[in-house]
Amino acid sequence: MNWWETDFVAVRDNRLHIAGQDSPGLAERYGTPLYIYSKDRILERYARLDDAFARNSAIPARICYAMKANSHRGILRLLQKRGAWIDAVSPCEVQTALKAGFPAERVLFTGTSISRADLRAVFAIEGLTINIDAAEQLDLMAEVKTEFPARVIRVSVRWNPGIGRGFNPKAVTAGKRSSDGMPIKFGVVSRKVIDVFRRARRLGFRPVGLHQHLGSGWVREDFGMVRTAVDRMVRKARELERAGFPLEFLDFGGGFGPRYLKSRGVFPVEDYIAYLSKAVARAGLSVKALAIEPGKYLVGDAGVLLLGVEYVKESYGNIFACVDGGTFNTVPRPAIYLTAHHEIVNASRVDGPGKARITVAGNLCETGDVFGRERPMPLPQSGDILAVLCAGAYCRSMASNYNLRQIPREILI
Ligand code: LLP
Repeated sequence: MNWWETDFVAVRDNRLHIAGQDSPGLAERYGTPLYIYSKDRILERYARLDDAFARNSAIPARICYAMKANSHRGILRLLQKRGAWIDAVSPCEVQTALKAGFPAERVLFTGTSISRADLRAVFAIEGLTINIDAAEQLDLMAEVKTEFPARVIRVSVRWNPGIGRGFNPKAVTAGKRSSDGMPIKFGVVSRKVIDVFRRARRLGFRPVGLHQHLGSGWVREDFGMVRTAVDRMVRKARELERAGFPLEFLDFGGGFGPRYLKSRGVFPVEDYIAYLSKAVARAGLSVKALAIEPGKYLVGDAGVLLLGVEYVKESYGNIFACVDGGTFNTVPRPAIYLTAHHEIVNASRVDGPGKARITVAGNLCETGDVFGRERPMPLPQSGDILAVLCAGAYCRSMASNYNLRQIPREILI
């Protein structure tokens, strides 16, 4: 069995099967490029998190789907029915969640660089919780609130615990600077948190929660740092309780994902849930709910992109499989984050003789438009179908029409 095989993607008769169906057959039926998502895989991932909380915590859990990962309507509806909550980051995401059936009470809006127009849009929605990203954001909130004199507006604070971690410098969202020196824009610094709670209450908002999000794409080695950040969050919540702000919820954000690369250790998500549950219980906090915000974990490996090989090209000793899609229009992560890896499998002949180092090249006018660079695989042939794995999260949602190419069709099976 290959390391990337799951119930959703498996090899049968040397061809890749997706949700039990022959994937070159699906490509023929629906055309390529094509995104395929699996309901069962998403529900299985959700159940794992839900079970881990049930086993470890007496405090109810809120699994808030980070819908920026993939806002496909069918996926939202599926998770809504299953009881998920939502992490939304723009007024349009909030509206999309509401349309998919999520009650506003189950949506947390976490914005950054928020405008007055954004605030007007979200204050108008009764029951929504608004996460404050900056002490300075409160000035705008106070101004816009005068237009909603009678409304009780629930707020929480996204604080920056001073440390963060992600698979790439651009995916680190807490700390002072990212590993490449980039100043981190998110959250309220530790020493300002209590003041923000005080001022929010004084202005007539109802403070209900504390939130952090450290970054995206943790691996096993990150668990130590993540535990430290959990401890910091629990200490901060205790400080807040002592200062007269008992919290309804603590939200630990997202960050853990599926396995993208064989050589990377998988983040121990169940141990993490056990750890944070115990840390909160030990501190004796009066919180009513524990929240996490998985994006990648829920949908990442529940999605595959199928591409058709048009021809195989040799140039100065390099071999290219030239496919019928472009990275920016389908799986932009490797082009944006140079360290993002997606496994690529020849769905028409998974294994075979004549292994070569194949660069899978897209159809855009960009040298970096490459799905995978010099990947060992059997030499593809014109008409073969290649499958880009782990394409469920931040692929369709970050895809553009660059070069005026179309964004592919999606099917949820
Ligand atoms: N909560 C907040 C407030 C976030 O900003 C994010 C992701 C998440 C939760 C979900 O994180 P996850 O569980 O998916 O790691 N586009 C990048 C990742 C950046 C995500 C930014 N925020 C990628 O393609 O890897």
